[in-house]
Formats: sequence, structure tokens, C-alpha cells
Amino acid sequence: MGAGIAQVAAQAGDEVLLHDVEQRFIDRGLQTIERNLSRAVDKGRMTEEQRGGVLAHIDSRLHWEDFEVDAAIEAATENVLVKLDIFAKMDEYTPPTAILASNTSSISITKLGAATTRPERVIGMHYFNPVPVMRLVEVIRGLATSDATFEFVRDLAIRHGKTPVAANDYPGFISNRILCPMLNEAVYTLYEGVGTIESIDTVMKLGMNHPMGPFELADFVGLDTLLAIMEVLYEGYGDPKYRPCPLLRNYVAAGWIGRKVGRGFYDYRGGAPKASVPPDGSARHAPAARE
Ligand code: CAA
Repeated sequence: MGAGIAQVAAQAGDEVLLHDVEQRFIDRGLQTIERNLSRAVDKGRMTEEQRGGVLAHIDSRLHWEDFEVDAAIEAATENVLVKLDIFAKMDEYTPPTAILASNTSSISITKLGAATTRPERVIGMHYFNPVPVMRLVEVIRGLATSDATFEFVRDLAIRHGKTPVAANDYPGFISNRILCPMLNEAVYTLYEGVGTIESIDTVMKLGMNHPMGPFELADFVGLDTLLAIMEVLYEGYGDPKYRPCPLLRNYVAAGWIGRKVGRGFYDYRGGAPKASVPPDGSARHAPAARE
């Protein structure tokens, strides 16, 4: 998602510094941005010159060094230890006045703030995938976040062409407190044989007008991310209604974590995505499997 955030920031005229742990991740991010902008040129929404102008706003750095920035937005994997480490480093390598934001989908902003010397300048800035398309930014205030930090980030989201919505700092915030239990429930519905991957997706697309079915969306988000968020909800609220489905755990254990690896609840390797029936026999009572 870091590439998407960098793209919308650069399109808004911000000077962007892309940082990652390996050069290949930086290169992949830049390629994604170049591809998205080329599509906009092909569709006549942007000139080749404007495309070049946006790309000129993006620079990259592989190593930590003194970053002279007004704000830093972390968009690493959904792992609290990784994020705590990054926040400690951002605290060390950015000016003390810089705002430190996290694109976390569920992890406590208050906890991330406590890993720095400036918790009043730490805030959640949660974008949605695909970032250039989705209009929402959830803005999450930790216990120590100041009004000035909130106002800065709210205005930044608006400049990025997004609609900011404020949420308080509780597990999953607003978006994933509601979305992820729905996706997890879809996995239970498959696991208990009530429906198939296709039938459950069709019900939610045609019956509820969702643009993607829950399995398509889970694969898009990443099953590892979905499981990590469910664990945060389960642990944070201590309520069994958030227990991750064992079938979801199995897919993650197998490494079938969605689109990014070519296989999740659908198989993306070659041609149109095909639903892949769980090979462990769960869902064997589903209507389509009985025919
Ligand atoms: N990057 C940039 N642009 C993209 C894109 C991508 N990965 N994928 C699609 N687009 C653009 C296309 O270029 C197209 O643009 P134009 O209309 O300007 O031509 C537009 O999006 C629509 O694309 P398509 O016609 O190819 O496909 P679609 O109509 O099926 O829409 C979709 C694709 C926007 C992804 C749509 O299926 C959708 O809205 N899905 C739901 C997405 C969603 O729920 N996202 C939130 C996930 S949760 C999350 O991110 C946060 C979390 O913490 C878990």
C-alpha cells in the first residue's frame, strides 16, 4: 500500500521519499506507480508530461538517515513488533516536529506512540486498497495524539483527494472491526459447508451489491493480513465472537495467502481466477460439492 500512498501524495504535489528494507521492494513500488500513471495517460486523464511531473516528486532511500520531512507514513506488514521498531527509527531519523503516522489496519496507535519521544505527534492514517481508487482515510487518534496532529492529518488526507473519518483507538478501529468479522464469517460459512466459495461470493455481490465477494476481497487484502487483524480483535476484546476460523489459519499456514502469491481461496495462476475447493474436505456438505 506504500506505493499507492506515495502515488496519491505525489499527485497532490507533495515531495515524497519512498523508503523500504530492500531495493527490490522500492523498485516494485515505483513500477506500480509508473504502471498506474501510464494507465491514466492511456485513458486520456493525464498527459505524458504530467506523468513525468508526478514521478519527479518521488525519490527513494534504502538506508535510514536523517530524513528532513514534515510527516512520515509507515505502511509495513501488520506485525506489532515490526511497526514498533519502525516507529522507534522514525523517531530517531526525522525532525522532532515531524508527524509520524501509521497505515495500520488494527494495531494500537497509543502503543506505537509510546515507542517514540513524541506520542502527541503519532496518529493512524489508514488508507484502503487500491489506494488511488478508494476514497476513505480512517484517521485514528491515540490517547496522547494532539488536536494539532489530528488537524494536520485530516487536511493531508483531504489534499490527497480522500475523505477522512475519525475513529478512536480500539482494536480494528471502525473499518476492520466490521469488515474482518464479515470476511471471517464467510470462511466459517464455507468451513461448515453452508455454501461454496462461488455461492457465498455470488450471494454477497448480487444480494448486497458488494463490488467483490468476501473470498475475492479476502484474497485481495491478503489472508495473512486478515488473520493478523482477527488475532488483534480476538486478543484486544477477549471475545470469542472474533475467533479466527481454523480454515483461514490453514490457508495461511499453507502459504496460500491470496492474490499476491497467486493462490488463496481462488487460484490466480493463469487465466481467469478459479475458486479452489479446500482440499481437506471441509465444506464437503456444501450444496455444489454434493451434486
Ligand atoms: N491500482 C490502481 N487503480 C486500480 C487498481 C489498482 N490496483 N485496480 C483497479 N483500479 C482502477 C482502474 O484503473 C479503474 O479506473 P477507472 O475507473 O479510472 O478506469 C477503476 O479502478 C475500476 O477498475 P476495474 O474497472 O478494472 O475494476 P472494477 O470496476 O471491478 O473495480 C475495484 C475494481 C475498485 C477494486 C472494486 O472491485 C472494488 O471497489 N472492490 C472493493 C475494494 C475494497 O473493498 N477495498 C478495501 C479493502 S480493505 C482495506 O484495504 C483495508 C484493510 O485494512 C484490510
